[in-house]
Amino acid sequence: MNVNLRVVILGTFVLILLVLMIFRSCSRPPQKGKLVYENHCASCHGVNGEGFRNLIPPLTDSNYLDANVDNFACIVGYGMDEEITVKGVKFNQPMAGLEQLTPTQIANVGNYIYSKWSSSKKKFTPKEIETLLGNCP
Ligand code: HEC
Repeated sequence: MNVNLRVVILGTFVLILLVLMIFRSCSRPPQKGKLVYENHCASCHGVNGEGFRNLIPPLTDSNYLDANVDNFACIVGYGMDEEITVKGVKFNQPMAGLEQLTPTQIANVGNYIYSKWSSSKKKFTPKEIETLLGNCP
């Protein structure tokens, strides 16, 4: 095979690969929940959900998350103020509610957290979050 032909074939191959890669990265759904998390939660709970000392509880304890699926919307929307034990550590600083978040944003951030750190892998719909918010204490 002559050298020019090889270059053309190789070039075409690389070009097709590049186009495929660009298409893939465009069609991937944006990680909306991750954005909400980084903008509204990470400053306290940490980028990796690790919490902070005995002041802010971690979000990486699947036991706590799994036991509180039904409270998740209320905690985020209206905050919480009670003594809790997460990963064997007691926490009793209050968390303020993030009332500016829409049910869709709460569902997105919930799906991000639950897919990352819980074993239940709970998935919320905005409708479900709305119902849960309507039943908060
Ligand atoms: C200003 C700091 C702060 C911000 C911002 C914050 N939290 Fe919290 N969060 C806390 C504190 C403090 C507690 C413990 C409250 C208590 O003990 O009553 C807590 C508790 C929780 C809990 C229950 C305990 C646990 O570890 O699972 C969840 C779930 C939670 N936060 C999720 C979120 C999510 C999701 C966001 C963002 C949408 C968020 N928090 C934003 C401070 C914060």
